[in-house]
Amino acid sequence: MCGIVGYIGKRKAVPILIEGLNRLEYRGYDSAGLSVINKGKIKSFKSVGRVSELEKKIKDNLLGQIGIAHTRWATHGKPSQKNCHPHYSCEKDIHIVHNGIIENYDELKKQLIKKGHQFKSDTDSEVIAHLIEEFIKKATLKTAVVKAVKMLQGTYGVAVISKKEPHKIIVARNGSPLVIGVGKEEFIIASDVSAIVRYTDEVIYLNDGEIAEISEDNLEITNLKREIVNNPIKKLDWTIEKSQKGGFDHFMLKEIFEQPESIRNALRGRTEKFISEDFLPTLGGLESVTKKLRKIKKIIIISCGTSYYAGLIGEYMFEEYAGIPTEVEYASEFRYRKSVLDETTAVIAISQSGETADTLAAVREAKNKGALTLGIINVVGSTIARQTEAGTYTLSGPEIGVASTKAFTSQLSTLILWTLVLGRQRNMSFAMSKKIAQELNKIPTKVEKILKKSREIKKIVKKYITVKDFLYLGRKYNFPIALEGALKIKEISYIHAEGYPTGEMKHGPIALIDKDFPALFIVPQDSIYEKNLSGMQEIKARGGKIIALATEGDKKIINLADDVIYIPKTLEMLTPLISVIPLQLLAYYFGVMKGLDVDKPRNLAKSVTVE
Ligand code: M6R
Repeated sequence: MCGIVGYIGKRKAVPILIEGLNRLEYRGYDSAGLSVINKGKIKSFKSVGRVSELEKKIKDNLLGQIGIAHTRWATHGKPSQKNCHPHYSCEKDIHIVHNGIIENYDELKKQLIKKGHQFKSDTDSEVIAHLIEEFIKKATLKTAVVKAVKMLQGTYGVAVISKKEPHKIIVARNGSPLVIGVGKEEFIIASDVSAIVRYTDEVIYLNDGEIAEISEDNLEITNLKREIVNNPIKKLDWTIEKSQKGGFDHFMLKEIFEQPESIRNALRGRTEKFISEDFLPTLGGLESVTKKLRKIKKIIIISCGTSYYAGLIGEYMFEEYAGIPTEVEYASEFRYRKSVLDETTAVIAISQSGETADTLAAVREAKNKGALTLGIINVVGSTIARQTEAGTYTLSGPEIGVASTKAFTSQLSTLILWTLVLGRQRNMSFAMSKKIAQELNKIPTKVEKILKKSREIKKIVKKYITVKDFLYLGRKYNFPIALEGALKIKEISYIHAEGYPTGEMKHGPIALIDKDFPALFIVPQDSIYEKNLSGMQEIKARGGKIIALATEGDKKIINLADDVIYIPKTLEMLTPLISVIPLQLLAYYFGVMKGLDVDKPRNLAKSVTVE
């Protein structure tokens, strides 16, 4: 996904811009570029591929203390030098970088061409530079940018520099995140705080419809009506170390191994009340909506990808323990569907990034229809977090690997806490909430135990390394884990995998089974254990190989499975928190053994901020 960095201050801009782009690499991109102003002249460099390629092109002595830079993830026009940002006006005196999608770019482009503008790229973004060029003839840079963005339909996070006013950067936002890092006599602009943390821990978030005029020693934010807005400076608690690999080969492995800690963080200070308070305990972020929560009759969970699978587990929990009818919808479907909801419906958005375009649009749709909107979000201060009425931060820290791992287990931990809140408001006994919360506190230690099996898991991967397809099967709470396990192996190792509920296998997918098409069964000793065993028999009878995830001490399984990974026993509703761990490790080792870039799988972006 595209990334923006900008710098204005007393230091040389290039090293800061390059460092920022490197920090944004995790978002996924296909080309990179930057422009710097020095002594009234603008120089620009672009490169297809990695930021390191761009760096090689830039001369060591490139001076200039103002600049903008960009990593591009192609939407309009293929990855190429000409489509790479920054884009320029005809006179090359206005340079812009843009995140988002301009929906009316075609129409604007035609109008601008009629006026004599010449376009160099296939992108939607380039229209912004030409629009500003049109307006700047009779206006200041800021006024020209305001007039230009008012013409745009769609989403933008945009940063602009110009020869006409060489001591300024103008940034504007609508639907694509922009953050301004406030340093000492310098400002660092970025689409995401990862590019800022190294320089300052003080940031200002720009809201939709706001525009900032930034010079070395001044920052002024207004809305598009030019009224001054005073956005507060927020303190970041993400340090640079937190964004590094911490001794692991990949971010993904580091993040898998961080899960005992990240789950503890998600639970810290939150489980105690369910163990000790007999009277309707709640969570800090939900206090303001306690009364509304008591009245809700239906829940709709909206999310995408891994966050969607967390939602599916939430559905099982909310219905079983809180008795609230729950549906889970892909946000991309919800936003265009006529869902029936009103003020007795709670719509819960689950998102690691808090910036996923489909989930954000779905939240807005739910709000318009009068539903109570809630968020389970990781990134503090992100757009979805700010647009929902109440919610809980999952506190898993920055997740850099494109594949979601620790964010998922923190989402699950939070959903369990919400089940306790909603359950206690209804029919759940204090004894039950206490039992669940006490067992929940033991989960991090159980995860540590599984992580010690990584060598054993690596051996299994070696054995199956030539496999081209996998069927992942599970039931009830572990059906969504089968889906998540299959997604993980697909995105990280490019092995085709399908997740199914075990009981559904005989209705079609079993036709695929032969000796080269193995099945992975999640089969803990829970309420549907025996049913899962029958599914395993059916695969075995057809010569299919089986890897089983089973409860420690289960001897029966040895006769049915070719390979077994044991996981510790826990309550049925909590098993997903531990059964997902071996599946993350399997996907990781498959990817590594196949020599793939596990942190940045092809075609994927960490934060999907376009539709
Ligand atoms: O940031 P979000 O949780 O809203 O992202 C949703 C999906 O794009 C995300 O979970 C994606 O499926 C993961 N990269 C999968 O590992």
